[in-house]
Amino acid sequence: MQLLLFGAPGVGKGTQAKLLADEFRIPHVSTGDLLRTAVAKGTKLGRKAKAVMDAGKLVPDDVMIGLVRDVLSSPVASKGFILDGFPRTLNQAQALAQMFEELGIPDYRVLNIEVSSEEIIRRLSSRLMCRNDGKIYSTETDGVTAGSPCPDCGGELYQRDDDKPETVRHRLEVYCNQTSPVLKFYEDLGVELTVNGMDTVENIHRNINRLLQSAEMR
Ligand code: AP5
Ligand code: MG
Repeated sequence: MQLLLFGAPGVGKGTQAKLLADEFRIPHVSTGDLLRTAVAKGTKLGRKAKAVMDAGKLVPDDVMIGLVRDVLSSPVASKGFILDGFPRTLNQAQALAQMFEELGIPDYRVLNIEVSSEEIIRRLSSRLMCRNDGKIYSTETDGVTAGSPCPDCGGELYQRDDDKPETVRHRLEVYCNQTSPVLKFYEDLGVELTVNGMDTVENIHRNINRLLQSAEMR
């Protein structure tokens, strides 16, 4: 299965992607996670990307397209993938269409998750991530606090630098101006599915599976 998760910051792409990747035993390819790993390792890409991410802006298209091309053309992605956070511009969407053609991937779906702006702000201000395994938690629903150990692996839970309120506002603007037009591209191709993200994690997961079933993707 080749599935793209689409939606504004904080709608729950990472949360749902991890569940689907576990269920279908295919890799979760998150461009945000790839960049955060590069930042943590202090690579050349990481050093360049950090300032852009902390400002809530987009990393240049050519860098992102190269990064995604490397992963999707590698053996790890040969049995399918959940792509989360890419494409975010029309340029990226066109480059991905070309990549799919080159890799012989005719059948894929784009799952759009919809959540209100108020709920997005609430979710991002209460999100914590594990520094070790990248698991996503919420101080509101998971009973965790910054600095406490990850319930799964014991790693340190931290707040992402780009989850500060001013940066969140800017990320939402970037989404509206540069990313939301990409949805029309996929609607026109007839591959878009939309799920209501204003529900519990479990119900959303169930509804995604129903949508995938009716689209004959599982
Ligand atoms: P990225 O890491 O992709 O960030 P994002 O798109 O802003 O999305 P988030 O990860 O913030 O949210 P999410 O939808 O995954 O929500 P989550 O599941 O965590 O990108 C970061 C940066 O990298 C970008 O700003 C950019 O600079 C750069 N970048 C990445 N890709 C790029 C690209 N293609 N081009 C250019 N630049 C790129 O959930 C959020 C919170 O809500 C969590 O606390 C979670 O526990 C909670 N939650 C989830 N679901 C529910 C629910 N149903 N009910 C209640 N709480 C919930
Ligand atoms: Mg995410």
